[in-house]
Amino acid sequence: MQEDISEVLLDSESIARRVEEIASELGRRLAPLAERDEPVVLVPVLTGSLVFTADLIRHLPQKMRLDVVTVSSYSGATTESRGATIRGAVPEDMAGRHVVLVDDIFDTGNTLSLLNRLVKERGAASVTICVLLAKPSRYEVDLRPDLIGFEIPDAFVVGYGLDYDGLYRNLPFIGILKPEAVK
Ligand code: IMP
Ligand code: MG
Repeated sequence: MQEDISEVLLDSESIARRVEEIASELGRRLAPLAERDEPVVLVPVLTGSLVFTADLIRHLPQKMRLDVVTVSSYSGATTESRGATIRGAVPEDMAGRHVVLVDDIFDTGNTLSLLNRLVKERGAASVTICVLLAKPSRYEVDLRPDLIGFEIPDAFVVGYGLDYDGLYRNLPFIGILKPEAVK
């Protein structure tokens, strides 16, 4: 698996440090809710945000619910996004809720733009968008994430939840996939 990586972009220590910082910042933004003892609804976008979410929430002592949504934008062995498709149920109980959408990466932004619209249509009181990575050179939408862990160049990356053809999610770091590893 490691031999398919050409360059480690973010090692596990750097990721861990940044995740803690993001959690602190998110905690500050959500402080008014905490003061009212009102739970926030975290909506992790699966499968990519699984690892990030697991680490993030353990630094967030806030009262929260988790309501996952599954989206896929790539099918099978491709690094070309085909537009976001929601798989399975969309979280229902959003009316009046303060929602945090959590994803691994804001690439074109189409996925989070779609989810942001959906959650707002369902009456969310606020939506905060929190992503570990962003590729500013690829943005195709007007929406911007509220919190970004790292801005990265336009390269296809894997690890720490991010996959290629379902693989590499368990790498503890984020690395660039070798072109030879792409079918
Ligand atoms: P967007 O809709 O173009 O912003 O794409 C977002 C989704 O595409 C993310 O949630 C990821 O699952 C996937 N994605 C985008 N770029 C990468 C990458 O470099 N590696 C792995 N997955 C990616
Ligand atoms: Mg994803």
